[in-house]
Amino acid sequence: MNSFVNTAIVKTLKNDSENAGSSHQRLELDVSALDAAKRSLDEGAVTPSYGPWREDIIKLLNDALATELVCVLRYKRHHFTAVGQASPKIAEEFLIHANEEAAHADRLAERIVQLGGEPDFSPDSLSRRSHADYDASADLNDMVRANLIAERVAIEGYSQMIALIGDKDSTTRRLLEDILSDEQEHADELADWLV
Ligand SMILES: [Fe+2]
Ligand SMILES: [Fe+2]
Repeated sequence: MNSFVNTAIVKTLKNDSENAGSSHQRLELDVSALDAAKRSLDEGAVTPSYGPWREDIIKLLNDALATELVCVLRYKRHHFTAVGQASPKIAEEFLIHANEEAAHADRLAERIVQLGGEPDFSPDSLSRRSHADYDASADLNDMVRANLIAERVAIEGYSQMIALIGDKDSTTRRLLEDILSDEQEHADELADWLV
């Protein structure tokens, strides 16, 4: 039902008799959009409230998906090459982060499909579409630094997406807020390990 609430239109009505020259607002649902929701069943969960924003939201989600997949690859590389170095605990945490980024990627792909889009897993364009960079550092502290930079980029990206989407798609916004809080935890941990 949340998507229907998004279609609520704010009507500005003038009350000529009592408040000449002033206006007040009424919160009313868009009944024509409710009727339209009863049709186009092949669109599944996508109702008219998504309107012109659906394509843009799918594009934003696909760029976030590319970012998460690059983060999985970077953390995996760091996990396997950091094993045997001074801090096995950090190497283990790299693997935990890799798995959490993979879970983020899955949730983004699932939402893209719910919106009627196609999740883009193409390896050819992955690094070009990702906001964050891959990294093949050999030194443990360089790895921590590269991951912290990537997490900060992810935090900035998700924050901007959340602001852009606003109340246009509350389900996607909640998903992004959820992922953002994980990225903030990742960045906090990495900042603690940086020497
Ligand atoms: Fe992530
Ligand atoms: Fe992260």
